[in-house]
Order: sequence, then C-alpha cells, then structure tokens
Amino acid sequence: MKKVLAVFGTRPEAIKMCPVVLELRNSSDFDTRVCVTGQHRQMLDQVLDVFNVKADYDLAVMHERQTLFDITTHILNRIKPVLELEKPDVVLVHGDTSTTFAAALACFYLQIPVGHVEAGLRTYDIYAPFPEEFNRRTVSIVARYNFAPTTTARDHLLAEGIPSEKIFVTGNTVIDALKTTIKENYVHPDLQWAEGSRLILMTAHRRENLGEPLHRMFRAVRRIAENFPDVKIIYPIHMNPAVREVADMELRGCDRIRLIEPLDVLDFHNFMARSVLVLTDSGGIQEEAPALGKPVLVMRETTERPEGIDAGTLKLVGTDEETIYQTCAELLLDQDVYNAMSHAVNPYGDGNAAKRIVKILRETLI
Ligand code: UD1
Ligand code: UDP
Repeated sequence: MKKVLAVFGTRPEAIKMCPVVLELRNSSDFDTRVCVTGQHRQMLDQVLDVFNVKADYDLAVMHERQTLFDITTHILNRIKPVLELEKPDVVLVHGDTSTTFAAALACFYLQIPVGHVEAGLRTYDIYAPFPEEFNRRTVSIVARYNFAPTTTARDHLLAEGIPSEKIFVTGNTVIDALKTTIKENYVHPDLQWAEGSRLILMTAHRRENLGEPLHRMFRAVRRIAENFPDVKIIYPIHMNPAVREVADMELRGCDRIRLIEPLDVLDFHNFMARSVLVLTDSGGIQEEAPALGKPVLVMRETTERPEGIDAGTLKLVGTDEETIYQTCAELLLDQDVYNAMSHAVNPYGDGNAAKRIVKILRETLI
C-alpha cells in the first residue's frame, strides 16, 4: 500500500483538496494522511467540518497579521518531523499559497516526490498576484506530478520545459466540490433579507489590494448600493484584520450592504447561485462563477484564469473606483450587456478531477 500525505492550510486549498482526500480514502490502494498547516484557522476548520475530513497533523502556524516570513519559516520547521516520521511515497499540495510553497520546498529538501494539484496557472507577472505567482512557479520546478486543470495550464508548463510525462490534465477539483454543494431548496436568513432585490455577492482579500486599492474598491461598491435602490450587497468578510478595518471604514452604516462572517462553502456556493453578479479579487471564485453562469467583475489588474475571460463570464476591472462603478452600473442597467456575460460555461472540467488524480496515482505508484 502506498502512502499519500496531503498538505494544505488555507480555505481555498481545503475546498479543492478535500475531494481528493475523500477519493483517496475511498480506495484501499492508499494509506492517506492529512497534514494541515493551519495557515488559516477558522476559515480552514469550516471547510474540514463541511467535508468531514479530520487532520492527522496540525502545524497550527496561524497568528494575527502573520507575515510571509512567519508562515514560510514556521511551516518549514514544523513539517520536517512529520515528513521524516511518515516517509510518504508522495505529498500532494494544492495551488499557490505559502503553505503550498513551503510544503513543496520541504519535500524537495527531503527528496520526497510532490504532486501539485492545480498546476500551471500563470500571469507571468511575478508580483501579481503576490506572492502566489512565485509560489506556483517554484512548485512546478520540483513537482513529479503536475495536475493541470486545463490545456491552457498544461501548455504553460510545456513551454517552461516541464516534461510531458509529468503533466496530467485533470480538470479542477473545485467543480467536484461545486457538484456536491448546490441545493435547489436552499434557504438562509441573509438570502431572505435580499429577497425581492438584486443580490450582489462580494469578496476581497488579496495582499496586493490591501490599503488604498481596498478603499477604492469599497467606495465603488458603496456607490452601487446607494445609487441602485433595488440592489442589495452581501459581503462575507475575510478574517484578515487589514481587510476588516477598511471594510468597517467604507461600508458600515449602509442599509443595503450586509457585512457578515465568512460563510461555509456550502452556504457560499448557494449564495452565489442566487446572486445576479459577483464582485471579487478571489482566485477560486473566478472558476466557480462561470460554472454557475454568474457574471464576475474581477477587481485585479491581471488573472491566471483566462478561461472565464475567453468565455465572456469574467471581466477584469482593476481597482480603480470609477471603472468598477461604471462597469458594474452598466451590467445592472443594460440587459443585453448582462445577458452577454451570463451564460454557464465550464472550462474547468466535469466534476471528476479527483477521480482522475487518484487513477493517475494508482497507475504510476502501485
Ligand atoms: C492566503 C493566501 C492566498 C489565498 C488566501 C485565501 C498566502 C501568502 N496567501 O491569504 O494566496 O488566496 O489565503 O483566503 O499564502 N485570519 C484569521 N483566521 C483565518 C484566516 C485568516 O484570523 O481563518 C487572519 C489572520 O490575522 C492572518 C490574516 O488573516 O494573519 C491573513 O492570513 P494569511 O493566510 O496570511 O493571508 P490571506 O490573505 O488569508
Ligand atoms: N468561499 C467560502 N466562504 C466565503 C467566501 C468564499 O467558502 O465566505 C469559498 C469560495 O466558494 C471559493 C473559495 O472560498 O471556493 C475562495 O477562497 P478565497 O477567495 O479565500 O481564496 P482564493 O481562491 O483567492 O485563493
């Protein structure tokens, strides 16, 4: 029996890794262990609860206002004994966070094979998103398995000289998760509050947007709420205090904006399914919203998810207040513009990505 250790630490990694962990645990071919770094605490635990995944190890690294130095060094030091004890045949990491980078680096130091789920996403701007573009590129250098969600991602890896036998196009495991969360008869008190209005769902957290860009983004959002009486906005705020302070300053006291705690993923997906559009700087939401046919205004200068832009469901609006306001207002006012963006396409696979990943591991490891 081969031993697989899955390592993850933030909300989005957990959402996209739990389907893989569950699939692995369904198979008697693998002894599957989970090590969470705890880079996120509450937002990680929410996901583990929803998927009913228990961690075998918890490095518990998170503290308030942690820096990139804190996260990387704490993980590197605390994961070493776990890897030495478990001696896994392969370690699975996901995406592009500091957890991903530090775990892959630790495996490289100990010469343990790495499988990278969601490999090959690129903006080719090393500072955007920051530090994620660096993280994902460095993992590609060491990974034995690059599980690319799309052929675009595969082509990036090939162009960088990664041998084709190390690349596998699998789809994105977020679609696996999405298939299990959306419920026809879903109800929630916050959705009842928004009933009869057009609901905009928003999120914001990117490191490069902290400070002035967040102020501009939130001012644009407040203007939308004030100028469109039939619109209500729900914003589950990321737990980063640097985000919360600005949100408090710019968005409190407007009765058509509701600031709420982070939703668990089942709730969030169902809120998204009932919204008219999404305003976000998130990565994962850019993959989920096209599958649900929801127009997304991406409050970033660049994206590593061009598939939704090509399909017409995503628009990059940057962080300029006026541009965000005008683009959002146009979507709300012009039904043709709205219809052109609102059609469900699914560039990220059929919801069987986790099955494919496990099959590839079985065929190559067993
Ligand atoms: C991290 C990832 C980013 C990913 C995002 C998903 C890095 C460098 N960044 O960014 O790629 O898009 O997660 O959300 O890996 N906090 C809590 N409780 C939580 C989570 C966060 O209190 O459950 C607070 C803490 O004060 C923490 C701060 O948020 O210090 C920032 O967390 P951190 O993981 O450093 O950065 P994110 O912006 O969440
Ligand atoms: N999400 C969630 N609750 C929320 C906001 C987002 O479960 O209140 C989910 C969302 O559906 C997506 C993921 O979290 O799957 C995106 O995470 P985030 O925006 O934190 O990180 P990113 O994708 O930008 O790395």
